[in-house]
Formats: sequence, C-alpha cells, structure tokens
Amino acid sequence: MSQLSPQVLLEAANRYGTPLYCYDANQISEQYAKLKAAFAGCDARFFYAAKALTNQHILKHILSLGCSVDCSSINELKLAQLAGFQSGQILYTSNSVDFSEIEEAVSLGAFVNVDSLSALEKFGKKYGNSYPLGLRLRPNIMAGGNLKISTGHADSKFGIPVEQLDRILELVRQYDIRIHTLHIHTGSEIKEASVFIQGVHFLLSLAPSFPHLKVIDLGGGFKVPYHPSEKGTDLVEISNSLRDIVALHAQQTGQSLQVWFEPGKFLVCESGYLLTKVNVIKNNGPYSFAGVDTGLNHLIRPMLYDAYHVIENCSNPTGSLKKYQVVGNICETDTLGADRELPEVREGDILVIKNAGAYGFEMSSQYNARFRPAEVLYKDGQLQLIRRRETLEDLIRTQENY
Ligand code: LLP
Repeated sequence: MSQLSPQVLLEAANRYGTPLYCYDANQISEQYAKLKAAFAGCDARFFYAAKALTNQHILKHILSLGCSVDCSSINELKLAQLAGFQSGQILYTSNSVDFSEIEEAVSLGAFVNVDSLSALEKFGKKYGNSYPLGLRLRPNIMAGGNLKISTGHADSKFGIPVEQLDRILELVRQYDIRIHTLHIHTGSEIKEASVFIQGVHFLLSLAPSFPHLKVIDLGGGFKVPYHPSEKGTDLVEISNSLRDIVALHAQQTGQSLQVWFEPGKFLVCESGYLLTKVNVIKNNGPYSFAGVDTGLNHLIRPMLYDAYHVIENCSNPTGSLKKYQVVGNICETDTLGADRELPEVREGDILVIKNAGAYGFEMSSQYNARFRPAEVLYKDGQLQLIRRRETLEDLIRTQENY
C-alpha cells in the first residue's frame, strides 16, 4: 500500500506551512485498481462520491483513471463538469432539493436519482418518458459505522420507503416514466459484505416491476480501516456473490443489469494526511495536552462521529513513548486523539493525522475565523500546491458594506 514517508510529509509542511492537507495521487490510483480487480468478473461501474473531496486536481486525477462521478448537489455536478467529466459520466443523487436543481441536472445531461414521491411526481409531469430516471429507495437496512452515517434504516430521511412501492408504480404508470436505475445507499463504513448482498437481493426483488431497468446502484459505503485493528470490506466476497446473483436474475427474468457503486471513502480516505504543528505542550494534572494548530474546524470527524484517526509524530519518530491528549486550537472542546501513545512530543513538532482524505477538508470551516488549510498533491514524485492557504481577505470577501 502506498504511504507517504515522514520525509515527504515534513518537506510538505516545511514548504507550504501548516495546517496542511497532503494527498497521495498514487494511493487513489491503487484504490481504484483494487476496485476494478475485485469486480472484474461483474458488469460493474464506479462513480466516485465527490462529496468526500472535491478539489479539481483530485477530480481530474480520478477522471484520468477512467472512473465516473456521483454528485450530491448541483454545485458538485458543476465542479465535476469543470474538471472534465462528461454528461454520461455524471450521476446526481439528490435529497431534499428544490425541484429546480433536478431540472438543472437534467439540462446538464446527468443520470438523475430522485429520492421522494414528490420529486417523482414532478419529474413525471415535466418529463414523462423523455428522460430516464433513477429511484433512490429506502430498504430498511440498518448498516454503517455509526447512526449518524447510517442512511438506509427505517427511520432514515433518505430514499422512498419501500412500503410506498404501490404509489411509486402508480406514478410511473400514470406518467409513463422510464425507470433506468434502482438505487440504495445504506450507510458509510459498512464492513460486512453481507449488507451489500442483502441490498442486491432487495433491489432485484423489485426489479421485475420496472421493465426499462438497466442498472441497480448500491451506493457507497465500503469500509476502509481507520484503526489498526480494523479491516476493510471484503470486496471479493461481494463481487463473487453479486456475479452469481445477477446472472441468475438475468436467467430467470431476462433482465440484464449493470451494477453501479458510488465509493467515496474507499477512493480518497487513505490518500489524505493532515499535517499540523504543535503549538503548546501543557501538563494539566494527569493529562499531557499537545495543542496543535488545527482542530475540529479542519477535521470534524473525531468530534462529530467519535472517529479514530491514527496520529504520528513525524518530527521525533524515535522519541520515548508518552501518553497525550492531542487537542485543537478551537475555542471549545476539540479532541483529535485521546490517550494517544506518541514518541515524545515537543513544541514545534509536526504531527500527522492519517486517513484524512475523505470528508476532511471537505467538511472544514472557518470557525473561530481561522483559515482553512492549504492542500497539496503528491504525484509523480512531486509536491504541488492545489489550494492556497486562505487570507483575511477570504474571510470578508462576501460581506457587504462593512
Ligand atoms: N452515495 C451516496 C448517495 C452517499 O450519500 C454517500 C455518502 C456515498 C455514496 C459515499 O459513501 P462512502 O463510500 O464515502 O462511505 N461525513 C461522513 C460520511 C458521510 C457519507 C455521506 N454519504 C464521515 O466522515 O464519515
């Protein structure tokens, strides 16, 4: 597995300052190659879930690998187009959007998934059978790393509940809508292959009701290991069952279906490193705090999801081990890593927070009026700045009459 060395990371921090997101292009290529290899025996297609990381350089790199893209907002769709994705390569999976966004996605030629009866009816009235459509369904499957990132369960806002199938079919008939795709996304960080297989059975059980169907879309959610004790999803197990189940379905029904996936974390998570400088060491009673120049404003996952991210000390890898609370500089509790055994941490050391490529920069903010980090891409042995650090002008650029 491709891993950036502490030397490269220190060089990046020296050259571009901290806090800094650094991405390894090679790692993204390797992840895509793993997907292709695992699903080689299936008619499968991959749409990168751009919400994980939308920097143009990352999107262009992913496009260059031959991957398509899944967008969750009209702006993601426009960013994907700007990076060079063509309409046949763009999927737009909406939720709770104004219908005008769906109209815009149609006008831009994307594959569109709708996730409410309301949108389905509006779509039918406006487009009838003139534009193929995908339906996001709620399968009532509980899956995912934690409740906040579980999306397919019976209390979820996502998708049209399968209990409303009769109404779906009524609308489809009434407006002669061509349902091209049946879609589910049950959650993120799903480690069990069986959840995906359950999803396939769910979609195939509904497929015969949709004679124009070409695709079943299982969404994203492949797990990547964050903690050293974790394992990723077994893709080969999914692929082997998928191939057989889809082939049997084709034999029994005459419906030949392609399978789509929308991996986000799987493609970019492990490529990303958040580099941060230690500003202050503070010994408060039983705790040694290492106070760094980043925080929940730049990586919200630990505070929002109790997510674990490996932290290492790049500057003093051979120091004697001590326990630290690695905390941010935001004016509220923002623990990036609790009770972490690290080689002695000194003020000025550079720490790296790993697996920060997915939903890291993308969920960052300017809270406490701090600048968001710069971003750097390591590709072909070179570091390249792909987003400059913000300035005070960036903080006030959109404010009027001050
Ligand atoms: N497709 C749809 C429709 C989705 O909603 C998502 C993620 C994906 C694909 C990609 O899922 P992935 O392969 O990345 O697990 N911010 C959270 C994750 C939220 C995921 C939202 N939807 C986190 O940092 O864990």
